[in-house]
Amino acid sequence: MQIIIMPTADKAAQITAKIIANEINNKPAYKLGLATGRTMEAVYAKLAEMNKAGKVDFSLVKSFNLDEYIGLKPDDVNSYHYYMNYHLFDKINIDKRNTHVPDGAADDVDAAAAVYEYEMEDAGGVDLQLLGIGRTGHIGFNEPLSSFASRTRAVTLTQTTYEQNSPLFANPADMPMEAVTMGVGTILEAGKLLLLATGSEKADIIAKTIEGPVTSMISATALQLHADATVILDEEAAAKLQGIETYKWYMKKDKKLIDILGL
Ligand code: F6R
Repeated sequence: MQIIIMPTADKAAQITAKIIANEINNKPAYKLGLATGRTMEAVYAKLAEMNKAGKVDFSLVKSFNLDEYIGLKPDDVNSYHYYMNYHLFDKINIDKRNTHVPDGAADDVDAAAAVYEYEMEDAGGVDLQLLGIGRTGHIGFNEPLSSFASRTRAVTLTQTTYEQNSPLFANPADMPMEAVTMGVGTILEAGKLLLLATGSEKADIIAKTIEGPVTSMISATALQLHADATVILDEEAAAKLQGIETYKWYMKKDKKLIDILGL
């Protein structure tokens, strides 16, 4: 696992966007796995800026989002379909027919989840999966006890996730307690994993994710099993890492990274 620690949340979002743009520039028909949530808003704003400035071209990119609430229609302001259009797809030159978000409004969510898995496979798999992390350690909406072999499926959200996300709803009681999410097994099949976490409220779960034992009680610990996983943090989210000085040492010695960071 590679750990990148940036001084601020803004710089952490900047380097995340830069890594994604570099990947797309090296392979224009890139298959990009996307996440939603507050942390990603800054990344998408930066990717939109770079696209406008001609620094990255999304015209051949295919995207696959991690998750969606069950019961919310794509035009619902709280749906992740809406989020993606608002924060990214409407601001870049991606062909919307190449964008995919799990269908939480389907009559048969399980059947739609199986189709979603097929679509990813048919595209040749996800090259890079962008991830955030919830307070329960969820990646996507894989809450505690999600099997590391799990696939795209319907799940029940925890009380902690309700407390984390319901303030985003005009009426918090309207937040669905069920979602459809790529599984941990699905996520682990991506060529690269890129997790971004910022802010002090993520420091505890980040320390457990990076330095704790691998356990299905914390889905994000599955990153330890992936051969090409990078975690980008700001100083606040990195604050509880016991090995912080070692990770910074690796960073300073990594020529490829120094090149990307422009140091
Ligand atoms: C959303 C998702 C979630 C979020 C996580 C962090 O697509 O996959 O795992 O990334 O809940 O959300 P924020 O960034 O709002 O703290």
